[in-house]
Amino acid sequence: MSILHSSLSNNYYYAYLIVIYTGSCICLWKLLYGCITGLTHRTIVTVRYAYRTELTFWCRQSVSVYMADPKRQEYKTMVESTISVIKADIGSLAGHVIVPDFIMELARKHLRTGIEQKIINDFYVTNAGDDLELIMVHNKGEGNSDVHRLAWDTFMDCAKLAREKKIYAAGQDMLTDTFSGNVRGMGPGSAEMSFEERKSEPIAIFMADKTEPGAFNLPIFRIFADPFNTAGLVIDPNFHSGFKFVVQDVQKEVPCYVEMQCPEEMYDLLALIGSTGKYVIKRVYRKDGMVAASISTDKLHNIAGKYIGKDDPVAIVRGHSGLPAMGEILEGFTLGHLVAGWMRGSHVGPLLPVSLKYSRCTRFDGPPRVIGLGFQISNGQLVGPVDLFDDIAFDNVRQQAMVFVDYLRRHGPFMPHRLHETDMEYTTLPSVLSKCESRFTSEEIGPTGVVKDTSEHHE
Ligand code: F6R
Ligand code: MG
Ligand code: MG
Repeated sequence: MSILHSSLSNNYYYAYLIVIYTGSCICLWKLLYGCITGLTHRTIVTVRYAYRTELTFWCRQSVSVYMADPKRQEYKTMVESTISVIKADIGSLAGHVIVPDFIMELARKHLRTGIEQKIINDFYVTNAGDDLELIMVHNKGEGNSDVHRLAWDTFMDCAKLAREKKIYAAGQDMLTDTFSGNVRGMGPGSAEMSFEERKSEPIAIFMADKTEPGAFNLPIFRIFADPFNTAGLVIDPNFHSGFKFVVQDVQKEVPCYVEMQCPEEMYDLLALIGSTGKYVIKRVYRKDGMVAASISTDKLHNIAGKYIGKDDPVAIVRGHSGLPAMGEILEGFTLGHLVAGWMRGSHVGPLLPVSLKYSRCTRFDGPPRVIGLGFQISNGQLVGPVDLFDDIAFDNVRQQAMVFVDYLRRHGPFMPHRLHETDMEYTTLPSVLSKCESRFTSEEIGPTGVVKDTSEHHE
């Protein structure tokens, strides 16, 4: 019933219940009447007949109500569904650890209003460490101002509550007070994807904390271009010809993109996306144009002009039926690969794939983590989620990553555990370095004064 309910608008759902209920009442009444007037063989036959015809009639009626549901009609003519994942760090508990439950509850309340106002169809709210994640489905297309305003207002209200409760770093990512039509460039990060729903539409949403958008370069490359990761690249004729990657230069003030085909331009693609702080995979398409992945590329520190937290990224990946299978998608996260971020956004560490339960950065504010939620998009609604990394199959990845955590931590402030200073332009390091800078001189510095040998000689 809940599936039915989710696929029917409220009014039609109630109309559907009323016809079923009325039909059943009439049949029961006829049966009762037959019993009162004496149960002759003839009565039983009449009642059985009536029951059968009534039931058939009412069932037909209710099916036609179901079929006439406007939402259903809408999807029969294949309206595009849009998934918008919009996130922001609006304050977190006990430092930069988790989003408190009462903030997430407030976010849910806002998004429920969004459904009532017909801005979105469905939503799911969660946290990736200290980031509040709004997963929304609607039919308004990407970059829609109503949807973005809903997310913006939600974040603003949550930040207000965070301030009232003196939650740490309240309103951290909200860089302006006024909304200008889209959250882009205003602090929050977003990934969006629109498509006509296939017969069945499985998707995975990945949300990371204490790292940057380039952290998804390696897994996305492996999923869509590496035959050692994705068996389908070799054996599924639907995507045997490969994928197209749209790469963004995130260091350019004005967004700048290039498209590369794989496998044809694989080495060129790798030449770019190996520089994870500069070139970020923004989208992936199948060769025929079918959208397969969308990744947030918002660079928070570029907007703020100073370090106010990493641009913890999100990614939407579509799976199966001519695209990589869910298992091939998840296989992309089995290296625990090194990413930039972690403590003060200034360190390199392995990306841990974790369940929602462990979506909290603790040790040295990390290690950087990624959660994965699996959904089915069904007639514009979200069915799910399944907590994709909540599986012992990822235990080894996590354990191996923790071996590297210990090893890296022993380097303390030394590179390459600490990022290169050019990657820390927007952190607090430059102000420390500038104090040292003025003390540099072109003269070689030698010892001053006369050195006396004060050691005791025992000859
Ligand atoms: C990294 C992050 C944390 C903070 C660190 C210092 O993205 O959020 O590692 O940088 O905890 O926090 P502040 O500067 O708020 O004292
Ligand atoms: Mg924070
Ligand atoms: Mg964060």
